Amino acid sequence: MSVDLKSLSTGLLVGLAAGYLLSSARSPPPRPPGSSAPNPSRGKRGYVVGGNWKCNGTAASAAALVETLNGAGPIPENVQVVVAVPSVHVPLVLGSLRSDIEVAAQDCGANAKCGAFTGEIFAGQLLDLGVTWVVLGHSERRAAGESSALVADKCAVAVKEGLRVMLCVGESLEEREAGLTAQVVASQLAPAAKKLSKADWGKVVIAYEPVWAIGTGKTATPDMAQETHKEIRTWMSKNVGADVAASIQIQYGGSMKGANAKGLLSKEDIDGGLIGGASLTADFFNVINGVPM
Ligand code: 13P
Repeated sequence: MSVDLKSLSTGLLVGLAAGYLLSSARSPPPRPPGSSAPNPSRGKRGYVVGGNWKCNGTAASAAALVETLNGAGPIPENVQVVVAVPSVHVPLVLGSLRSDIEVAAQDCGANAKCGAFTGEIFAGQLLDLGVTWVVLGHSERRAAGESSALVADKCAVAVKEGLRVMLCVGESLEEREAGLTAQVVASQLAPAAKKLSKADWGKVVIAYEPVWAIGTGKTATPDMAQETHKEIRTWMSKNVGADVAASIQIQYGGSMKGANAKGLLSKEDIDGGLIGGASLTADFFNVINGVPM
């Protein structure tokens, strides 16, 4: 059989060009830009509002939620907005969400590199995708057996790799009723304080989420939340440093929604929220717009 070299090389070129076009057609379009609204009240530290989607949704419902957020109007300029999405939906959300909302993972491994760690996600792999935050130590993971020491190890890896961390702490109802709230929260922070340098803390926000308020519709009153936030700041001042304590942002989480956000966010030591149920609806933007103006 004779081979026509000329038509073979032409065919090869056409194939390569088609492959190139196909691969460039596959790269995601740029994310829509979003928009920011001026806010005359800067707030001392600025605010961080996180939406924790938890283990909810399908690819179709995640895409619909992205559409809702993309069309939800401007974000006050002193509010950083982050959504923590199920790992399986991270690429979808990163490819379509407005660029002024950052994307978080809901956990990462304590492994400091890629390798034989079946089921884990290395913090560096998240960054590689474009994820910039991770939620660590959520009470739902602590309930599944995560210790504060493990959470601290994860924090250290995440920060070292360059992720920002929402470090969750909070007491159970029995602990609150026994007057142990400050003690419990301190014991959850202590291993992280041992592991992280002052510079590391610059990449961390603390999410105070009383367990009894999560998913129950029972919110801590603004005064109750403020009291614990202040205790956390005081603990940070004594155990990490006054400068870190003054600058660290402390979010409140637990049945926070549009209707109660303003009262909570008006408090001195409440610098944002970590929102579960309400972050799955357009009400998430009512929380964002609840920051003092
Ligand atoms: P809810 O807002 O549904 O109470 O959940 C809070 C939470 O766990 C956020 O991380």
